[in-house]
Amino acid sequence: MNDNNIQLQHFILNEQKRFPYAKGDFTLLLSDIILAGKIISREVNKAGLVEILGLTGMENVQGEQVQKLDDFANSSFLNILSKNESVGGVASEEMAEPDYFTNHTKARYCVLFDPLDGSSNIDVNVSIGTIFSIYKLLKEGECTENDFLRKGSEQVAAGYILYGSSTMLVFTTGEGVHGFTLDASLGEFLLSHEDMKIPEPSKRYYSVNEGNFKYWEKNVQEYVEYLKNSEKPYSLRYIGSLVSDFHRNLIYGGIFMYPLDHKNPEKPKGKLRLMYEANPLALIAKHAGGKASNGIDDILEIKPIEIHQREPLYIGTKSFVNEAIAFINGGKK
Ligand code: AHG
Ligand code: MN
Ligand code: MN
Repeated sequence: MNDNNIQLQHFILNEQKRFPYAKGDFTLLLSDIILAGKIISREVNKAGLVEILGLTGMENVQGEQVQKLDDFANSSFLNILSKNESVGGVASEEMAEPDYFTNHTKARYCVLFDPLDGSSNIDVNVSIGTIFSIYKLLKEGECTENDFLRKGSEQVAAGYILYGSSTMLVFTTGEGVHGFTLDASLGEFLLSHEDMKIPEPSKRYYSVNEGNFKYWEKNVQEYVEYLKNSEKPYSLRYIGSLVSDFHRNLIYGGIFMYPLDHKNPEKPKGKLRLMYEANPLALIAKHAGGKASNGIDDILEIKPIEIHQREPLYIGTKSFVNEAIAFINGGKK
C-alpha cells in the first residue's frame, strides 16, 4: 500500500464535495453497494468450497437458468439496500419486477443492478462481476417504474465490481472514472487506478462471440471480416463475462461488441440488457473518453420502454466504435 492508495470512503467523501445535494446519503449508498460487493467477493473466492456452485434449478425472467451465486448476489444486494432509507426501490436482472421500499419516505435514489454478470463462467473459475446503476428519484420519497425507465445519461453514478485475480471496484459519478482494489487483509478498497482513460491502443483488440457469426446482419459480418483482414492485425479476446471483457477494453483499449442477432428470426435482438449492463458501462466509457452505441444510437440517449429491454452493444475506444458504426451503417472502408 503506497501513500496514494487512499481508502475508498475518504475518496467518496472528497467526491461528495462535488455532490452538494448529497448530504452524506450518497456516500452511504455507495458504501452499501460496496459492502454487498465485499460479501459477494467472499463467496466467489470460496465458491468451490461451499455449496454455492451450480444451478438453483430455477429460471429467471430472462428465461435463463439461475446459478446459486446469482441468487446469493441478488439477495445480498436486496438485504443491504432494503435497509438504506435513501433507496426508494431496486431493479435487478434476477427479478421480474422492481422492489419498491414504500416505507422509505425520505428516499432519494433508485438502484438497478446485474448482481452477477458472467454466470456461465462461475463453475469454471473465470472472472465474473456485479454491475450497478444509480438514479436520483424523480420525486423524493416516491419510487415508481418511471424512476427506472430513464436514459443512461441521467445516471448519477454507475460502476462494476470485478471478482477476478483481484477484486476491483470501478465507478464514476461523472467526475472521472476511478478504480479501487480490495485489500482483503484490511477488508478495504484502496485507490489503485485514479482517473482511468480508455487508450487509443497500439495493439488492437476486438472482442465478440464469433460463434454467432451466421446470425449477424451482413454489414456486421463484413465489419468483423474487415477487422480480421486488416493489414494492421487485431487480436481477438473474448472472456464471455461482459464486465471482464469491458475492463480489458478500459485498460488496454479495443472494442467489445454483442451485435444484434437473428437467432430468433421473428425477433432479432441484442442479448445484453440496456438498464443494468449497457447503460452503466456506457457511462463509465463516456467518462473514460470512450463511447458506447447500439450500432445506431448512443447507448446513453436511448429512452427505455421496459426495464429488461435488450440492446446490441458496441463499446470501447471511441475511434473503434465510430469506425464500427460507420461500417455497419454502410460507410464501408
Ligand atoms: P449474465 O451472466 O448476467 O446473464 O450476463 C452474461 C452476458 C455477458 O456477461 C456476456 O458478455 C454475455 O452474456 C456472453 O454471452 P455469450 O455466451 O452468448 O457470448
Ligand atoms: Mn450480465
Ligand atoms: Mn447476471
